[in-house]
Parts: sequence; structure tokens; C-alpha cells
Amino acid sequence: MMTTKFKIVAGLMGVLLLNSNFVSAEENMVEWLLNFNRAKEIRPVFNKAYQAECGDCHFAYQPGLLPAKSWEKLLTAAALPKHFGVNAEIDADKLKEIRDYAIDNAADKSYYKRSRKIANGTANGDAPLRIIELRYIERKHKHIPEKMVKGNAGVKSLSFCDKCHTQAAQGVFDNDTVSIPNFPDYDD
Ligand code: HEC
Ligand code: HEC
Repeated sequence: MMTTKFKIVAGLMGVLLLNSNFVSAEENMVEWLLNFNRAKEIRPVFNKAYQAECGDCHFAYQPGLLPAKSWEKLLTAAALPKHFGVNAEIDADKLKEIRDYAIDNAADKSYYKRSRKIANGTANGDAPLRIIELRYIERKHKHIPEKMVKGNAGVKSLSFCDKCHTQAAQGVFDNDTVSIPNFPDYDD
């Protein structure tokens, strides 16, 4: 007779194997299993071209913050020259590398905790161009008073994650690591 523990493990394996994203992301899974710092909730950026090109005007958003279908729309030769009202054009070779990197490491190809939530929340059609439009992210921030975000010279927009999330670049977004500029005492 199977022990309950074994049944649970077998059940989980079945779920993982049935989900094609998990199978196609084998390398990613090995990386995740071998990563002793799993408390990191989003995989940090590890592509130099992406870091350089996409970390210029704002913090380099980890690919694991959006599903692949969002990166497919954002990272094209036609879309980048009118990227949220600015020209973020990059040459064709670099664009290919950056686009492939973002798609391969998108939320729906990642095992990291927050990416799983983002992937599940966008599994049925939604492909927002903005991270802050993800329902999961919206929900986490909707109670923060406007004066601490748009009305706050130290932040300006919710898009600038790293202004408040002191370890955003390391992929850590936990409540405990938040400090809102000019409102150091804010505690949800
Ligand atoms: C020339 C400056 C510039 C460059 C280069 C740039 N961006 Fe942006 N990006 C912006 C601006 C401006 C916004 C809008 C910020 C706002 O609304 O406050 C933005 C917003 C975004 C957002 C939406 C964030 C949100 O949730 O509101 C994503 C995702 C994004 N950029 C990804 C990228 C990626 C990936 C690259 C590299 C290919 C890149 N950006 C390069 C200027 C730039
Ligand atoms: C104005 C400051 C501010 C900005 C900018 C901001 N956040 Fe947050 N974020 C917070 C606060 C405060 C919380 C804690 C909310 C709570 O306690 O429920 C939070 C919570 C979160 C959480 C949930 C953490 C947890 O432990 O459950 C995630 C994930 C997150 N933010 C991601 C982001 C991302 C991604 C961006 C950028 C696109 C961003 N945040 C921008 C202030 C900010």
C-alpha cells in the first residue's frame, strides 16, 4: 500500500509532468533545484545585454515578472521605438538575444514563487504590457495612498519598483524588504 506521503509526491510529479511548461523548461528547473537561495522570489537578471539595454531608464525588470506573451508584444522592432512614449530601439542582433532571453525566462517558464503566481493569473488570455496591470501586482498595491506613489517625488510611479523594494534587483519583493521613500514608517 502506498503511504500518504508517497501518494502526495507521486501526485505532485504527475501535475508537474502534465504541465508542458514545466517539461519544456527543464534547464530552468535544474537551475531552480540547485539554487540554494530559493527565498529569492523572482529569478534575478542574468543576461548582460538585457541588464545593459533594459536597465538604463528604469530598473531592469526580471523576465519572470511577465508572461511570455507579454514579452512577445513588448520586445519587437516595431514596438520598441514607441515604448511607453519613449524610443527604446535596439539593434537587431541585440534585440534577438534580449527577446529570446525574456521569453525563455518569462513567468510561465519559471519556478520561482512570484512568477508562478503571475503565470497562473495570466494563464487565460491576459497579456498586459505593464507589470503594474497584473491583477496580482495591482492587488498588492491598491491600498497604498497616492501621496506615497505619484505624489511622492522619491517614487513618481508604481513602475519604479526598486524605489520601494530595496532588494528588487536581487529578485526579492517581500513585504519585509519594502521601504517607501519619504514615508519610512509606512506599514500597510
Ligand atoms: C529610453 C528609456 C527606456 C529604455 C531603454 C527601456 N525602457 Fe522600459 N520603460 C520606459 C518608460 C518611460 C516606461 C514607462 C514608465 C512609467 O510609466 O512610469 C517603461 C516601462 C516599461 C515596462 C512596464 C513597467 C510597468 O509595469 O509599468 C516594461 C515591462 C519595460 N519598460 C520593459 C523594458 C525592457 C525589457 C527594456 C529593454 C528592451 C526597456 N524597457 C527599455 C523607458 C525605457
Ligand atoms: C510606492 C512603493 C512601491 C512601489 C513603487 C512598488 N511597490 Fe510593491 N509593494 C509595496 C508595499 C508597501 C507592499 C506591501 C503591501 C502589503 O503589505 O500588503 C508591496 C508588495 C509587493 C509584493 C507582495 C510582497 C509580499 O510579501 O506579498 C510584490 C510581489 C510587489 N510589491 C512587487 C512590486 C513590483 C514588481 C513593482 C514594480 C512594478 C512594485 N512592487 C512597486 C510598495 C511598492
